Amino acid sequence: MSTFGTLFRVTTYGESHCASVGAIIDGCPPGLELSPQDIQVQLSRRRPGQSNLTTPRDEKDLVHLQSGLELGVTLGTPISLLVKNEDQRPHDYTETDFYPRPSHADYTYLEKYGIKASSGGGRSSARETIGRVAAGAIAEKYLKIAYGIEIVAFVSSVGKVHLPATLAPPSLTPQNPDEEDDNAQDALSKDFIQLLSTITREEVDKMPTRCPHAETSERMTQRIIRAKSAQDSIGGTVTCVIRNVPSGLGEPVFDKFEASLAHAMLSIPATKAFEIGSGFRGTEVPGSQHNDQFVADANGRLRTVTNWSGGVQGGITNGENIYFRIGFKSPATISQPQETAQYNGTPGSLSTRGRHDPCVVPRAVPIVEAMAAIVVMDQLLMQNSRKAAASLLPPITTLPPTMVMPKKAL
Ligand SMILES: Cc1cc2nc3c(=O)[nH]c(=O)nc-3n(C[C@H](O)[C@H](O)[C@H](O)COP(=O)(O)O)c2cc1C
Repeated sequence: MSTFGTLFRVTTYGESHCASVGAIIDGCPPGLELSPQDIQVQLSRRRPGQSNLTTPRDEKDLVHLQSGLELGVTLGTPISLLVKNEDQRPHDYTETDFYPRPSHADYTYLEKYGIKASSGGGRSSARETIGRVAAGAIAEKYLKIAYGIEIVAFVSSVGKVHLPATLAPPSLTPQNPDEEDDNAQDALSKDFIQLLSTITREEVDKMPTRCPHAETSERMTQRIIRAKSAQDSIGGTVTCVIRNVPSGLGEPVFDKFEASLAHAMLSIPATKAFEIGSGFRGTEVPGSQHNDQFVADANGRLRTVTNWSGGVQGGITNGENIYFRIGFKSPATISQPQETAQYNGTPGSLSTRGRHDPCVVPRAVPIVEAMAAIVVMDQLLMQNSRKAAASLLPPITTLPPTMVMPKKAL
């Protein structure tokens, strides 16, 4: 289905070349001041045609709010919004009338529905993510005002060009080839942790690649241009941090916080991988180094000394920064000829025309931020409703002390 979330429910609609794309957002709290500009900022960061590293499809992606607010204030009723598809060129896709694009969604959509949009990627197009980005911007506005929550994503690799080891997520740091050497000091560096605590969207947007390290960004730019010149494409990774999330979010079994994040992130087109905290690197680091030991902060609140967990333990947030990384494949639509087969089985060569992203990660950054905001918002509403329900009960004084949080030592 096209709906995500339990209490903050986002339904997106639209295909690549239909009249408009958009979303209905149900569950936004009433009384939130919201302007089109709050949403437009993120839509403009997602829109195509921002640089020579993205598709030249020229869409302004102006948001039109249809319902759910009056005089700039949300009513608590469903918010519906749309963005017109303006720069459509369906004729760019005539070859794909006959050929399913290798590794795109053409074949599987037809197998599933028995019918498909006549041009472009239809529903599988990244145009669909406009509704998510708009919904995420609304969630973010609430999260920022109510909790000071900040979400920043950035590009951490393009092809084999990675952030320097000191700034990279743990699993991107060079692996020690010595099987007997358990020392993991090279991973989870102070600089990476510092980057997570301080990085801003303004810093990320200074670079056309959205990699915040100038020298790496320049190499990534060259890598993307090389793919584009060869009528080819290249993949990459996006790392995201969520700051100031209260502890206690995440439902402990099937809707663990990290499971919901993974669901959200792997629903973004072109994603192939998700990892949180130490990720795959965590499989190599012995428990003695991987465990995040507790320490009380100045207010007596338990914090962790390290953050291999990525801010989530037992599927529940622990109040530390939540960080995760998503792998995006090389986009499927490339202009160079590919030996493949038509829908009817006839072998042939497909050279796809049309305007395409040689690498999706610079544009994926605001989409990742949006999906993260939607997950946090949904989990917050769930936890707050549980807490509100429990707060109406009289206190129980008969429980053994081991069953409740002890008074602070400090
Ligand atoms: C921001 C963004 C832009 C994209 N641009 C393109 C594109 O120009 N060409 C393309 O073939 N795929 C593009 N994709 C990916 C396709 O939407 C996606 O690969 C396709 O629907 C197949 O789905 P899958 O890769 O998730 O299996 C883009 C994805 C994102 C997130």
